[in-house]
Amino acid sequence: MALVSGLPAGVPIDLEFVNRELWRRQQGYGRGGRMKIETDKAHVLSGVRHGKTIGSPIAVEIINRDWKNWEAKLPVEAGDPALHQAVASPRPGHADLAGSLKYNFPDARYVLERASARETAARVAAGALAKLMLRTLGIEVASHVIRVGRATLDRAAAWEEIVALNARDEVVLGCVDEAAEARMKEEVEEASRTKDTVGGVFEVVVHGVPAGLGTYANWDERLDGQLAEAVMSVQAVKAVEIGRGMVAAESFGSQVHDPIHYAAESTDQPTRFTRSSNNAGGIEGGISNGEDIVVRGYLKPISTLRKPLESVRFDTREATSASYERSDICVVPAAGVVAEAMVALTIARIAQEKFGGDSVMELHRNFASYIEQIRSY
Ligand SMILES: Cc1cc2nc3c(=O)[nH]c(=O)nc-3n(C[C@H](O)[C@H](O)[C@H](O)COP(=O)(O)O)c2cc1C
Repeated sequence: MALVSGLPAGVPIDLEFVNRELWRRQQGYGRGGRMKIETDKAHVLSGVRHGKTIGSPIAVEIINRDWKNWEAKLPVEAGDPALHQAVASPRPGHADLAGSLKYNFPDARYVLERASARETAARVAAGALAKLMLRTLGIEVASHVIRVGRATLDRAAAWEEIVALNARDEVVLGCVDEAAEARMKEEVEEASRTKDTVGGVFEVVVHGVPAGLGTYANWDERLDGQLAEAVMSVQAVKAVEIGRGMVAAESFGSQVHDPIHYAAESTDQPTRFTRSSNNAGGIEGGISNGEDIVVRGYLKPISTLRKPLESVRFDTREATSASYERSDICVVPAAGVVAEAMVALTIARIAQEKFGGDSVMELHRNFASYIEQIRSY
């Protein structure tokens, strides 16, 4: 269940788009059996009438089709304790041990079910609503995969390529380059063959954001900081990069900062100040600078292994192998879709805080007036 508040009244809600986003989260080469059980669909319970938001909180329900297999094992009532399916030994890399210690559970079953990325279906549904609001302002969010294990995309991807990729009806590894994607597929195949798992890197790009979202004035209002938190909150993401942050750390300043120019002629852009590169990833001093915002998430390999690592039995404390539960091998494209949702929710919230408005009409008026201000700067 996702509960989204703060959207102005009058945002057109395209349920087909929301369901497509949910579908995109379920795709990718190297996904496990659970994806075959789930075909997620959004059921909007409140906040939308005649295809548009009405300004009240929007409740979206997504039925978990796997639940019928667990109802008797994990009942709300006391149920039959003999049916309880304990996670006998914690899996390294999961919340199993830390969560059991923290909540004083005798085994990790309750931890696993809640820490699972299953909840990201709700994030994607909420993010889809945020995307629909942003779309009315001409702001779009998309993602692509730039690394799986050792296989990398060794060239820049154009915005149009990423959009076309996101519109495809078949997802392999979410890479814009066929040859690079084939190498990525081999990484997943090797992991599958060796009963291992593999991580990688996705890139989320936000197109059409005007200069001026976020601020340097307070540390917790910096746009880069807020996006980093949002993307880092996605399961298995262990590092976040804004623009070419990693390369910048090993370069001289003259090689990474983006020179500023001024266009002689007025264009359809909100400002005539232009950049010849975008290594900053569209953010300087915690503020969007009008270039595409680029956020990368680095995923560790999935923690559930078919050749399990060493662990300890919860009941006897004897050494054993970690438990195995049905699992994915590679989730980089799906994590990118979840991160798109987190980025969209963050940008939509900050845009709504800046421009305000109870209705889309009011939001658009405020937005247009601000665009006019920076255009005539
Ligand atoms: C879309 C998505 C699907 C995932 N599927 C699995 C999975 O099938 N098996 C697994 O062990 N981990 C999976 N994970 C990763 C775990 O949820 C995550 O590693 C774990 O909860 C521990 O959290 P942490 O890695 O953020 O520390 C998935 C993550 C994402 C984003």
